[in-house]
Amino acid sequence: MASFSRRVIAWQRQHGRHGLPWQGSQDAYRVWLSEVMLQQTQVATVLRYYPRFLERFPTVQALASASLDAVLSQWSGMGYYSRARLLHRCAQAVVTRHQGRFPDTAQALAQLPGIGPSTAAAIAAFCFGERAAILDGNVKRVLARHTGFADDLSRPAAVGALWRLAQDRLPRQGIEAYTQGLMDLGATLCTQRAPRCVDCPVAADCVARLEGEPTRLPVKTRRLSRRTHALALLWLQQRDGLWLHPRPAGGIWGGLWCLPVWDDLPTLQQAVAAWPGRGRLLDPVTHDLTHRRLELHLLRWQLPARLTTAQSADVQGLLPSQARWVSKADALALGLPAPVRRWIESPPPA
Ligand code: ADE
Repeated sequence: MASFSRRVIAWQRQHGRHGLPWQGSQDAYRVWLSEVMLQQTQVATVLRYYPRFLERFPTVQALASASLDAVLSQWSGMGYYSRARLLHRCAQAVVTRHQGRFPDTAQALAQLPGIGPSTAAAIAAFCFGERAAILDGNVKRVLARHTGFADDLSRPAAVGALWRLAQDRLPRQGIEAYTQGLMDLGATLCTQRAPRCVDCPVAADCVARLEGEPTRLPVKTRRLSRRTHALALLWLQQRDGLWLHPRPAGGIWGGLWCLPVWDDLPTLQQAVAAWPGRGRLLDPVTHDLTHRRLELHLLRWQLPARLTTAQSADVQGLLPSQARWVSKADALALGLPAPVRRWIESPPPA
């Protein structure tokens, strides 16, 4: 039987994904950008953001010299904003430490902000043909299943063993197609819940399949546990204007423009109780961040078109500083948390 890598490569050439906008380029800036976007976002979404982002920031120099606000605004809607902040810092590091050229080895790439070992290997393989192993979540699944690797991947030692196994399987030639093939297998056939083994080029000797229950692998006992954190947001509208303010750097949604936030709903309700106009409370929605699940309570408050000076002072006194009225159209051009963007795109009933 042909070796594992030969079958993956042959399958990728015939059945893998081709023609994605970052494929066929060996420009490290373009490949790096796609890999960072693809870390936690599906291809279909990245396809909408990637061209716009490149148009706005065509080179690593353009990205490095842009403001963080401009970068967050282009990223807005893709979520996991620490990626965008690290992306910006990485661009600056490439300019200041490497004269604007990405280094050409996985090892050097992995020293840059936001580039982990798997992303570094993917960039080095695609752009410089380096024989470097990738091991993202999808690839862990493919390799653990094929080899019958049953150690618990919440243990770092087990992940280390899987890295060595990934390294041992690298082909002498064709690293680009092999790397893409592993990604494509994990994304399209060897999926978490419903693997399509009948179409898989390496099914014949896949231990997990031969044992009859491929979804049993990989084993990971400690799942990411997210603590739930409730927040109350105020949708404050007057005519077409919505009250937005920039979130403090460092906390949740740092640097993004947001509706004013309270720690709990009763405090918010108390704050607005004496305001003119009318309010309506919406059903809470949940929104997952990397380490937290948010339960968002939205209070929509419509102010009358005109306020007395005293009323105006009352309202503004309770709102965060640096806030301003923004029209919905202008708001959509800002960096916004994903749930806030969704609300502005289809506003809750008044
Ligand atoms: N996920 C991560 N990197 C990818 C790539 N280059 N192509 C498709 N999906 C990916």
